[in-house]
Amino acid sequence: MQLNLVTRTILERLQHTSGDVSGEALCRDLGISRAAVWKHIQTLRGLGYGIDSATQRGYCLRRSANFPYPWEIRPFLKTSFCGWQIQYLPTVDSTNRAAAEAAGGGAEEGTCVIADQQSRGRGRMWRKWHSPAGGNLYLSMVLRPAVAPVAVSQLSLVTALAGRRVLQSMLPDSEVRIKWPNDLFVDGGKTAGILCESSAELDRVHHVVIGIGINVNTPREEFSGQTDNPVNSMLSANHGREFSRPMLAAELLNHFEPLYLHWGQRGLGELLEEMERYSLLAGREVQVTNGEHIVRGRVLGISHDGGLRLQPRKSCGEVVVHCGDTRILSW
Ligand code: BTN
Repeated sequence: MQLNLVTRTILERLQHTSGDVSGEALCRDLGISRAAVWKHIQTLRGLGYGIDSATQRGYCLRRSANFPYPWEIRPFLKTSFCGWQIQYLPTVDSTNRAAAEAAGGGAEEGTCVIADQQSRGRGRMWRKWHSPAGGNLYLSMVLRPAVAPVAVSQLSLVTALAGRRVLQSMLPDSEVRIKWPNDLFVDGGKTAGILCESSAELDRVHHVVIGIGINVNTPREEFSGQTDNPVNSMLSANHGREFSRPMLAAELLNHFEPLYLHWGQRGLGELLEEMERYSLLAGREVQVTNGEHIVRGRVLGISHDGGLRLQPRKSCGEVVVHCGDTRILSW
């Protein structure tokens, strides 16, 4: 979804004017009729912008639209490629599915698909990701890393690290932790999930789609019953105060890009200390389930290739698991 150039010009005039913008001035400057100005104003209202109008005074932007529209995200971006192309969809089955389609069609690295709502949002292990409209962030990005296919799953951790930094900066009074391999917990409740999917040959990665879903302005109660984990949202952690979704999306990309470039050149090594410091699992007794395969043990840390290092029960050795579902046995 794109904003027509005239509608966008009107929006920018409203955004940069503290008082009223006269309808007459808009007609004159844009060379359009009063009726046309009114139509553009109606389009903006339909997109969620609160615009007051008064016969003698003109138009005034009372409230911005808290939707992750590309034109709202762009002013906050400090990246050199992440988010330079954004496809915004009011509703889609899954942004990961749509981004994979875009990648297959040759989309550039850093291209994002963002939706306000997903009808078939998906999580790991083919779980459903509850994706109601109007309050959250569902973002998927096309990446083309020059790494071996086995290294691709490390991107979940790189994304988690970026997401953790962003959530912590926006929620300074909360505790934001990474639950290996792909979850972000705020004050003990799952608030974001990451899904990394790729298309590769034995020795070559065609593309990766990294998708992140963040419970932003939806009360946590709306998610309970959707997962086995305790849940949270940024809104609930922030005592009911809302966050700007465009700013959150931009900050996520701003934090992700340098970490991604670092990882592409140097691997996870130097990032492990931060991952372990903010790990929800550090020192905990956990159970990792991967199909029929179950491993229990105490978490020792994260390995250089992104696996979870465990000390199995009744043993002083170490095992490393690379995928699976993690359940904490002792809180
Ligand atoms: C998980 O916790 O298992 C991962 C959840 C990932 C959800 C996001 S929302 C954006 C993107 N599109 C999807 O269908 N899934 C990911």
